[in-house]
Amino acid sequence: MPMDFRHHSPILLFSASLFFTAAFSLGINYGQIANNLPHPEAVVPLVKSIGATRVKLYDADPRVLKAFANTGVEFIVGLGNEDLARMRDPKQAQAWVKTNVQRYLPATNITSIAVGNEVLTFNDSTLSTNLLPAMESVHSALVSLNLDKQVMVTTAHNLGILEVSYPPSAGAFRRDLTQKLSCILDFHSKVGSPFLINAYPFFAYKANPKQVSLDFVLFETGSGMVDPASGLHYDNMFYAQVDAAHSAVEKLGYKNVCLQISETGWPSKGDADEFGATPENARKYNGNLMKLIADKKGTPMRPNSDLNIYVFALFNENEKPGPTSERNFGLFKPDGTPVYNLGFNTTGLISTNTSSSAGSSGGTTSSGSSPAGTGTSSNGYLSITADDAERLPSQWSLSFLCLIVSTVLAFQL
Ligand SMILES: *[C@@H]1O[C@H](CO)[C@@H](O)[C@H](O)[C@H]1NC(C)=O
Ligand SMILES: *[C@@H]1O[C@H](CO)[C@@H](O)[C@H](O)[C@H]1NC(C)=O
Ligand SMILES: *[C@@H]1O[C@H](CO)[C@@H](O)[C@H](O)[C@H]1NC(C)=O
Ligand SMILES: *[C@@H]1O[C@H](CO)[C@@H](O)[C@H](O)[C@H]1NC(C)=O
Repeated sequence: MPMDFRHHSPILLFSASLFFTAAFSLGINYGQIANNLPHPEAVVPLVKSIGATRVKLYDADPRVLKAFANTGVEFIVGLGNEDLARMRDPKQAQAWVKTNVQRYLPATNITSIAVGNEVLTFNDSTLSTNLLPAMESVHSALVSLNLDKQVMVTTAHNLGILEVSYPPSAGAFRRDLTQKLSCILDFHSKVGSPFLINAYPFFAYKANPKQVSLDFVLFETGSGMVDPASGLHYDNMFYAQVDAAHSAVEKLGYKNVCLQISETGWPSKGDADEFGATPENARKYNGNLMKLIADKKGTPMRPNSDLNIYVFALFNENEKPGPTSERNFGLFKPDGTPVYNLGFNTTGLISTNTSSSAGSSGGTTSSGSSPAGTGTSSNGYLSITADDAERLPSQWSLSFLCLIVSTVLAFQL
């Protein structure tokens, strides 16, 4: 039965953004790998209509940053993977910050720079080696411009950086990335910026539709599992994924670093083999997720921490490569109409005024909107069901060696 979150959170039923800002802090990814999106000016009311107070870009599109001046919306701007190498030069880093950040402050409230996107899971050693130096260099540039107190430096990771993701308490990073992640966490710890993870239960389901409970990935009630080691109860896969990342961070000794979710979402359409990619499932996933955000619920391991979730994504993006799902993660069609009904009233917010020039992120797919990211969609996503969970204690207490993420977990139901 479709769940109707409006009955539980009446405040979500209406579009009045004034209500939302008090009760609800939603983040949204504004990817622009498309040739048919509305002009950024027209996107402002759309963002407000869903109660989003935070927007994440994959670049620093001047049109968007200008359009959102004096709106109170907070921004994460992106520095593309293709720019990492040159950021090692302090002059270039400072020039980038001046042009793409300082120029828009304070009218546009840029609060973070995401340096690179899902860099470590590209398995490109040059790119990976440049990541931390680029982050440090951009941070130094902010210090020299006296902006480091208001603008944070971070980077967003694909969940594939985890080698073990089940049970959540056993979460651990890929061994070949541990050294780099340790240094990156040390950086976060020093400058006080968050560690960002992109987490998609969809990919776990898509990889294993017969074994993974749809209710568990869609936050529906009645499903769940207990982590045999911690005894914590998980009623959805998203929290299990996030706590696996918490465990991995903690194992390296950085419990003080705050973990946040830079992307999560569900596609409304996919290829024949992309199980679960339907408008109804997308509505349930994002609707239930928004309810969790409104309820300000943390994960079982960190009940009081704010995950600062950014939903992926605002629009369907027609120029994204890859399977059909990649072009159908949007809450909205390019004409501003909702892809499915989330209970927001967006009537008449956007006319079909599309700007001919694609966003400046267009063409840079390497740093463009995830989840195109790292290819194999099942990479890094745990695949478990409630039924499996009941069987776990005997199996999992023996050893966690079989929990290698790349292994497809295929339990007998
Ligand atoms: C920008 O966002 C930060 C973080 O929420 C907030 O503390 C600050 O007051 C905002 N600045 C402006 C000018 O709105
Ligand atoms: C939605 O908004 C439109 C335009 O503001 C308004 O005319 C309409 O009555 C609203 N519908 C609902 C169900 O609130
Ligand atoms: C589209 O919107 C932009 C920005 O609001 C405006 O400058 C432009 O004139 C509009 N174009 C049309 C055809 O309405
Ligand atoms: C990167 O390397 C890991 C570990 O060797 C592997 O599991 C993953 O599939 C690789 N990813 C890509 C995109 O090549």
